[in-house]
Order: sequence, then structure tokens, then C-alpha cells
Amino acid sequence: MRTLFIGGTGNISKACTDRALEKGMEVFHLNRGNKPSPWGKSVVSIKADIRDVEGVKKALHGLHFDTVVQFLAYRPEQVRADLDIFDDATDQYIFISTCSAYKKTLRNPVVTESTPLENPFWEYSRQKIACEKILAEEGAGKAFPYTIVRPSHTYDDGWIPSCFGSADFGLAWRILEGKRIIVPGDGQSIWTLTHASDFAVGLVGLFGQQGALGEAFHITSDERLTWDSIHMQIGAALGVEPKIAHIPSDYITRIVPERGAGLKGDKAVSAEFDNSKIKRFVPEFIQKVRFSEGIRKSIAWYDRNPEMKIPNTALNQEIETILSYWDKAWAILP
Ligand SMILES: NC(=O)c1ccc[n+]([C@@H]2O[C@H](COP(=O)([O-])OP(=O)(O)OC[C@H]3O[C@@H](n4cnc5c(N)ncnc54)[C@H](OP(=O)(O)O)[C@@H]3O)[C@@H](O)[C@H]2O)c1
Repeated sequence: MRTLFIGGTGNISKACTDRALEKGMEVFHLNRGNKPSPWGKSVVSIKADIRDVEGVKKALHGLHFDTVVQFLAYRPEQVRADLDIFDDATDQYIFISTCSAYKKTLRNPVVTESTPLENPFWEYSRQKIACEKILAEEGAGKAFPYTIVRPSHTYDDGWIPSCFGSADFGLAWRILEGKRIIVPGDGQSIWTLTHASDFAVGLVGLFGQQGALGEAFHITSDERLTWDSIHMQIGAALGVEPKIAHIPSDYITRIVPERGAGLKGDKAVSAEFDNSKIKRFVPEFIQKVRFSEGIRKSIAWYDRNPEMKIPNTALNQEIETILSYWDKAWAILP
């Protein structure tokens, strides 16, 4: 089986590369070559910028793939370009969407693939929904062999997943320094974190499955966590109890409007994912990495790369601004 990852060295796609190689697949990457490839000659690297459609066509000329996984399409015009680039070049095109596309309601927090797609708060999610629509309408119209996969919050080494920044050491730095961190609401809403190595088993298991064409799947862990427990586990892995300030999402959004999209449109709303569809298609898919273990792995990665243990200045400023307003609001209470 010959597979092409658009990306391949990213937060999620790296683990998917490991899994595809483990399953004996021939793996190609298309990226700009900015990150070192730990796989040597086991992965064929094609250097191109996916936004340069003509350059990509030239770079892929004459190649045919059993599966192409597009990790880097965020806008409908990018998916439309893929319909052109990969027409006749693949037997399966997997579009990586997002679980933030689902309409989440407090009345029914259990999400299945039939849950309607709608997100009035987050433009990113609306654009992903529009991408899916291109596939369902224009893709289906030309018998384009697509599959949609929706990850939820998915992390690997180097990520400290939280509701305030995930892809760097910023939050861990604050905890280690004894500085307060913010958890939205009362910290009791339910959230799902998935280790990329688990996600990879589900994704790669869909490769070559005829029955998966025209279908959508989410792939998440089954572990239900509250935001408080997530931050307590991050603290436990760091060896420092975090100082948590609980602040309502509406209050946070009033001070930093840009935060509203990701909180009110995603992370502050309880969501539980019913993974029975992916388990039916890929029986090997089970959650192996619990968060308590995954976060320790990620922090161990930072211990091996201490130069990356740096504060996130913008995040610090943002959190301190919100806290200063919050403290003033508390101070006037009787
Ligand atoms: N992580 C989550 O919690 C989450 C949740 C829901 C959905 N998702 C979805 O997951 C996808 C991200 O996957 P990921 O985390 O594996 O990727 P990523 O870490 O965001 O992307 C990095 C990879 O993409 C390559 N790349 C970046 N820009 C490129 C360009 N213009 N042309 C070619 N290659 C480029 C990078 O290599 P070079 O720099 O060398 O080019 C690298 O291989 C997105 O579609 C996102 O919406 C993620």
C-alpha cells in the first residue's frame, strides 16, 4: 500500500507515519522540508508547498497513491484544488477535518457522526465544515473517493494540551513558576484528549477500505476528563500542584474576544465522543495511552529538549490581563 501524507512531520501526522511504516506501507511525505525527518530512507520526502498548486502537480507528476491524507486543508478553495491535483492520482483521499465542526449542545453531550455540523462561534470550524461540503457535493459529483476524518484535541510529544494554548511549554512554565493558570467555568465540563499514537491506529486502519469511501469518522480516546483533572494531571506530571483560577468563558471572552471562538465554540462545552463507528471499521483501534501517561511522555520530551522549555510571552500577558480584571471584580465583593 502506497500512501502520501500532506504534512507528515506534524503533531498528528508524525505518529501516523510511524503507524503506516509499522504496518509495512510505502510512505511518501509532501512538505517544505523544514523539520528533520527521523525516518531516513524509509520515507520518500517530496519538497513542495501545498499552496503552490502547479508546483505540487509537477512534484507529484506520474505518481499514483492508494491513499492520500490531507492534513493541511483549512479552506474550501484548498479542497477544491485537491479535487484537481488528486483526480486520478489516488484511490482514496482522506480529509482531516475537526470535531469542533459538530454542533454541541448541553442537552446531549454525546456526539456521533450523525450529529449536525454547525459552529456559530469559530470561523476555523465553519471553514472545515465548508471543506467537507465541497467533498460531499463536488467530490461526490465526480466520484472522487473521499473519506472524512475528524480528530478532537490530539497531542503528542511537545504538546501540553490545555484550553489556553497547547503546542508549547507556556502553560507548564506558568505552573512550574507557581503562577496562576485559568480554567474556564467551574472546571467540571467534560473534555476528551487523544494521544496521536492512538489516533494513528484508527486513521491508518481506514486506508484502502472501500466501505470508508463517502463516510465520515471521528477518532478520539474514550477517556472522559474534566478540565480541572486535566490541569491537575499536568501539574502531577510536572511535580507541582497548579494554582487554578476558575473564570467563566463569557468573562474571559469579554476581556479577550479572540478566546471566545475556541472556548464557546469548542473547549468549554462538554463533549463525549461515541467511537463505535471507527471501532466497527478498525477493530484494532482502542485507547492505549491514558492522559496521565501521555502527558508524562510529553514532559519527558521537554526534559530531553530543555531549550524548548520557554515561557510564552503573549500567553503570559493575556492570562495576567484576564486575572487582573478578575481580581478587581473579586475585590469589590462583600
Ligand atoms: N491537534 C489537534 O488537536 C487537532 C484537532 C482537530 C483537527 N486537527 C487538524 O489536524 C491537522 C493538523 O495536522 P498535524 O498536527 O499533523 O499538522 P501540523 O503540525 O499543523 O503541520 C505541520 C506539518 O505540515 C507541513 N506543512 C506546513 N505548512 C505546509 C505547506 N504550506 N506546504 C507543505 N507542507 C506544509 C510541515 O512541514 P514543513 O514545515 O516542513 O512544510 C509539517 O509536516 C489540521 O488539519 C487540523 O485542523 C488537529
